[in-house]
Amino acid sequence: MQLAQLKSPVEQHPDKGTVGCLQSRGERSIGVITMTKLVVLIMSYFSFVLIISPFGKDQVQRGEEFKKFLEWTEKYPIAFPRWFGGFTAGLVINHPDYAKAVFARQDPKSMVTYRFFIPWIGKGLLILHGPKWFQHRRLLTPGFHYDILKPYVPLIADSTKVMLDKWENLLANDSTKSLEVFEHVSLMTLDSIMKCAFSYQSNCQTQRQLDYYVKAVYDLTNLVSQRIRTLLHRNDLIYWCSSHGRHFREACKLAHQHTEQVIQDRRRSLKEEGELEKIQKKRYLDFLDILLCAKDENGAGLSDEDLRAEVDTFMFEGHDTTTSGISWILYALAQNPEHQQRCREELKDILGERDLVQWEDLGKMTYTTMCIKEALRLYPPVPGVSRELSKPITFCDGRTLPKGSIVIISIHNIHRNPTIWEEPEMFDPTRFSLENSSQRHSHAFVPFAAGPRNCIGQQFAMNEIKVVIAQILLRFEILPDSAKLPVPIPQVVLKSENGIHVLLKKLDER
Ligand code: HEM
Ligand SMILES: *[C@@H]1O[C@H](CO)[C@@H](O)[C@H](O)[C@H]1NC(C)=O
Ligand SMILES: *[C@@H]1O[C@H](CO)[C@@H](O)[C@H](O)[C@H]1NC(C)=O
Repeated sequence: MQLAQLKSPVEQHPDKGTVGCLQSRGERSIGVITMTKLVVLIMSYFSFVLIISPFGKDQVQRGEEFKKFLEWTEKYPIAFPRWFGGFTAGLVINHPDYAKAVFARQDPKSMVTYRFFIPWIGKGLLILHGPKWFQHRRLLTPGFHYDILKPYVPLIADSTKVMLDKWENLLANDSTKSLEVFEHVSLMTLDSIMKCAFSYQSNCQTQRQLDYYVKAVYDLTNLVSQRIRTLLHRNDLIYWCSSHGRHFREACKLAHQHTEQVIQDRRRSLKEEGELEKIQKKRYLDFLDILLCAKDENGAGLSDEDLRAEVDTFMFEGHDTTTSGISWILYALAQNPEHQQRCREELKDILGERDLVQWEDLGKMTYTTMCIKEALRLYPPVPGVSRELSKPITFCDGRTLPKGSIVIISIHNIHRNPTIWEEPEMFDPTRFSLENSSQRHSHAFVPFAAGPRNCIGQQFAMNEIKVVIAQILLRFEILPDSAKLPVPIPQVVLKSENGIHVLLKKLDER
């Protein structure tokens, strides 16, 4: 949602008061747009498309979007309206009270955010709503049970070690080296999720030539990012005729074929092996085992098509989001060396001579976890989520929105809202100490969303982040690379326009 091509309506009618969108006519309704404004905006949209976009992908100062959002959040700490390109306008929510009201409901997702992913991930948990979503959510929840996640820890620890051995080789001749971490972490999380989701050993971190499935997933995430950034490509017709569009379709086909094949093979072998309990004694259960054996009380399971959507959804959600999280946490720790050192000392105490993190270690990382949360506050991997209201809503202050309205809960703005957070720009992990957190609004910190549609993979993600950050800090010192500061760009997942660069320095042997 970085569609800055239109002048924001906020600037056109900056009514006084805390809600930027409050109408001054006395009616307590938000989001009414007059016909003339609509016509002007539609015209300016087309002139923008025609005049500017053919000459380059530079839309209204990219990288400025977040700054603007924060300015508006200061001015309108509760909410403001915004155009999201095309013909879509919505209310951007900056305040935990408003967010809580929306998170508690079960409105369908607005397609503002996920539209471009659907050809790939299909109608899985992320996209579904209503009874079908409920059925899937119930079937999948056991797959994220504590016992299931436990055996993943050594898998992730191994994948991390492969990445760090690579880093050490890169450093062979230098004492410090600048590294773009997003790319490295991306392959590592892909390696991990493939092992956890269907026991697929891709070796994608070490093979020079990526195998076709890894390449397809890797390309799909990047192609969607590119598409969101290229205004013309948001149009389906134009996109599908472009070379990017063809590439995307090709990659989708490959990914789907692979997923289908894996599902069929596993269905067959599960029939031979019998019950999950018996299998669990021989090997760890991966997500696919759980998905294939999931049955509701009538004995109904998921169809092959539904299964494929869920597996592909995990591939996307389970890799791009954690990559963003880990990369930005590294950046934040590079900027805050004293906190980084305190984490390292805690981790040395916990791990001793070991270099691989174990399940038992995770609960002991008190300070490290506080730093991870503080980085997730400043750099939420999913900067915002959207809903299309299926019935009217009344917020706690009595203001209402009609049915059909689009709302964007800006996790990013909530996390930096100055009416909620003291000195929001400052990195201060002690905000997340037990005492200091207990005072806070329940919805002030929502990197994994909240309510019935919260992130089902939250525990998995936190485990993965802890393992990776711990192993990195024990082998390397992370320093800021002041020559290449990241430029955050709001996409479905928080990325940086120019990558995320840090300096690596090998620590002396323990
Ligand atoms: C740091 C990592 C992660 C972050 C910040 C994150 C964040 C989120 C957020 C904000 C949502 C709500 C989306 C919305 O309302 O539109 C969500 C939903 C979801 N996440 Fe995550 N996620 C992460 C990792 C994961 C992982 C590792 C998995 C799976 C293995 C996963 C699977 C899902 C699924 C399936 C949903 C949809 C749940 C539903 O609607 O019932 N996520 N995530
Ligand atoms: C390190 O130096 C050696 C000898 O000069 C060279 O062969 C090797 O490729 C270098 N390694 C890296 C990672 O630059
Ligand atoms: C709580 O926050 C304050 C202000 O940031 C800080 O000085 C204090 O040390 C924190 N308390 C704990 C237990 O971390």
